[in-house]
Amino acid sequence: FSIIGLICYVFAITAPPPPAQTAFWSLNMCMSGSATSCEECLLIHPSCAWCAQEDFGRGRTLTSRCDFSQNLQKRGCAARFIEYPTSSISILQNRPLSSKGSGSTQYDVVQIMPQKISLSLRPGDQTWFGLQVRQVEDYPVDLYYLMDLSLSMKDDLDTIRNLGTKLAQEMGKLTSNFRLGFGSFVDKNMSPFSYTAPKYQENPCNGYKLFPNCVPTFGFRHILSLTDKVDRFNEEVQKQMVSRNRDAPEGGFDAILQAAVCKDEIGWRKEAYHLLVFATDDVPHLALDGRLGGLVQPHDGMCHLNDKNEYSASTKMDYPSLALLGEKLAENNIFLIFAVTKRLYVIYKNFTALIPGTTVEILDQDSKNVIQLIITAYNNIRSKVELTVWDHPEDISLSFTATCQDGKPLPGLRKCADLKIGDTVSFNVSVEARSCPPRGTDQSFTIKPVGFKDRLEVAVDYQCDCGCSRIAQTNSSICSSIGTYNCGTCQCEPGYLGARCECQEGEASSMHLSACREAEGKQICSGRGECSCNQCLCYESEFGKIYGSFCECDDFSCARHKGILCSGHGECHCGECKCHAGYIGDNCNCSTETSSCISDDGQMCSGRGNCVCGRCQCTEPGAFGDTCEKCPTCPDACGTKRECIECRLFNSGRIADNQTCQRLCKDEIITVETLKTDDPGAVLCLYKTDNDCVMKFTYSEHVSGLSILAALQEPECGGGPDALTVLLAVVGSILLVGVVLLAVWKLVITIHDRREFARFQSARSRARYEMASNPLYKQPVSTHFVETDFNMYGKSYNGGVH
Ligand SMILES: *[C@@H]1O[C@H](CO)[C@@H](O)[C@H](O)[C@H]1NC(C)=O
Ligand SMILES: *[C@@H]1O[C@H](CO)[C@@H](O)[C@H](O)[C@H]1NC(C)=O
Ligand SMILES: *[C@@H]1O[C@H](CO)[C@@H](O)[C@H](O)[C@H]1NC(C)=O
Ligand SMILES: *[C@@H]1O[C@H](CO)[C@@H](O)[C@H](O)[C@H]1NC(C)=O
Ligand SMILES: *[C@@H]1O[C@H](CO)[C@@H](O)[C@H](O)[C@H]1NC(C)=O
Repeated sequence: FSIIGLICYVFAITAPPPPAQTAFWSLNMCMSGSATSCEECLLIHPSCAWCAQEDFGRGRTLTSRCDFSQNLQKRGCAARFIEYPTSSISILQNRPLSSKGSGSTQYDVVQIMPQKISLSLRPGDQTWFGLQVRQVEDYPVDLYYLMDLSLSMKDDLDTIRNLGTKLAQEMGKLTSNFRLGFGSFVDKNMSPFSYTAPKYQENPCNGYKLFPNCVPTFGFRHILSLTDKVDRFNEEVQKQMVSRNRDAPEGGFDAILQAAVCKDEIGWRKEAYHLLVFATDDVPHLALDGRLGGLVQPHDGMCHLNDKNEYSASTKMDYPSLALLGEKLAENNIFLIFAVTKRLYVIYKNFTALIPGTTVEILDQDSKNVIQLIITAYNNIRSKVELTVWDHPEDISLSFTATCQDGKPLPGLRKCADLKIGDTVSFNVSVEARSCPPRGTDQSFTIKPVGFKDRLEVAVDYQCDCGCSRIAQTNSSICSSIGTYNCGTCQCEPGYLGARCECQEGEASSMHLSACREAEGKQICSGRGECSCNQCLCYESEFGKIYGSFCECDDFSCARHKGILCSGHGECHCGECKCHAGYIGDNCNCSTETSSCISDDGQMCSGRGNCVCGRCQCTEPGAFGDTCEKCPTCPDACGTKRECIECRLFNSGRIADNQTCQRLCKDEIITVETLKTDDPGAVLCLYKTDNDCVMKFTYSEHVSGLSILAALQEPECGGGPDALTVLLAVVGSILLVGVVLLAVWKLVITIHDRREFARFQSARSRARYEMASNPLYKQPVSTHFVETDFNMYGKSYNGGVH
């Protein structure tokens, strides 16, 4: 029995929901929401409309005044009674973008277009507007150099003594209007941050063997207001002396805040880029560190410079928080450049994630590279446009699509990188209001590219009211004189019910029960309400609101993520999450924002993965990192790092002439005599240089987040032969082989001949002895005997003829 029960149970939980119901819901959410007034109807969905015609739908069983507009017309509602507002946009100010910054009328430089728009939003109805941003050429620049003057920066101070002139020269190539200022900081002059014993008051270095003289500790001192006379900068820097504090962290964040908010003293111009270079070789004190010295008052974000241009609240207030710092920097359009030693790169890199508009560059131990660093950071800043939204109203969701210089729309992205000065980028901004604010509140917000003074002001009003509500009649005869006739319906006085307020609550109404069932056999009012006068009165629930003609809907039974309904990014509507703009998914936990997936080189997840819900999912085996940027084992790892080796070591290659090198290649590059190739985490890369040498390097990822490239000092050249040599060698060797072959042949022939001759000789000499036995040999003399008898001479002659 229990097994059968289990099977039934399993079937029950795996069975799909009845199709008819889902179809009904997805077909017409306007009707199922059972709106009782025009305003409620408009809120259900932006495609819902309300029919305010008095005699609409009379006499039918299922009738709703809330429906799609075309359905209402089909069902006999006259067009003039249909309430169907939509979102709209009007552009109020649209001055064209400027092309040049420093000119006769600087105050009129326009870098964003349009400048003012007004939106009229119907909740849920998405609409969009476009905006264009241009990094105008030759824009004025203000640069404030904020320097750590603690003892360890002594050698840096020596290096920057003539910084002003050189920096002005370099910046002169980028802008014709450049101003420079200077300030310095150490730390709060109180225990435990500094030495406070009397003997240290005048000279904190008192008794310090290596460097016995220095100036008293100070929090922040503004030394030179922004000026175009760069010699003044040199002069002031010459005069500076280092000081000394006790603990390792410095009080730099106090100084940054003062430099940002003391606009008049520092002299920030309204119509200029504001760069704040923060040079230090140690970590900063953060908010709450002040408690160590008994400072409990949080920073108030105000300027506190006294008449000696020193920060006077240094020993009265705590260090500022990162949030406060970020807010004040953004408010004053200041780009903060952390120029820090390599050891601190990762820490400050982490700060940049928390303070918008901030970059980190690696400062050499003695600040030698500071000019290059500033130029790089400046180009870096000017090569990107990033939009920020100010005073963003809670109930308005914005989603951006950037179209950068390549013309490809990048959804979910609100920034463009790798721009050239003068490039124009455009953004498509989708806006959606989620709800109606209390009547009479008008909202507005501002869209501003980071660090620009230019802004787009957006005023918002809401399409939440129905026109017909304005002519509502109280105690109308249509509503039995006990209700308000409004947009075709009666809103009855308490205690009265019914379409015409014809029933009184509590009246026996069992005869009307059937009208309260969604279908035959279903519970009355879905078991979550009471039937009264043909209508369901839904129970109140501690979880939320139960609604619908049959109390079949509620606003709490939706998908949750981590226990939060619709992940907090959507509205629960009758079992379904309606996600706010910028979010998708059943439980709205998936952000469509993709900017966090863009790697430093501007590619989506470094081209090694996909951006899923705002996070990179690396598909390339071995790839890791927030944007899949790390991948020692990827096939192209050597290729990408090769460019860094080329540009950093030899100033050549694809990204050499370009600031891109500095920006894309933050890796630590060490040069070695011989490469260690036995490290399992390191990949050996080699490539052929233009002059046919072979360059070798290894690539490994370090725990600090920086990757390490160990390279040979220079390419290995085998002193390779040139083409002529090769040709000659080939021809020569062919000839040589030929000659050798000939010689061998000759030798073989000669030996053979000799042998033959010897044999001949021996055969000949042998022949001499054997001649006699030669069967062919014929005696030259042959003897014939002739038998004759000569008797005439009396004797017998026996002879022959020869
Ligand atoms: C920087 O942030 C990363 C990830 O957010 C963290 O793993 C790392 O420990 C942080 N580094 C420092 C030095 O704070
Ligand atoms: C802007 O985005 C919306 C959707 O988000 C789209 O319908 C519209 O066509 C886009 N406009 C432009 C000019 O690309
Ligand atoms: C409507 O009727 C109620 C009582 O039925 C009365 O108190 C109220 O004054 C009437 N209002 C108007 C505007 O006539
Ligand atoms: C979103 O929610 C689904 C279901 O709970 C979960 O599988 C997924 O991992 C979540 N995604 C994110 C990005 O949190
Ligand atoms: C800088 O380098 C990028 C590629 O790395 C290239 O697309 C761009 O044209 C270069 N810019 C200049 C000014 O050379």
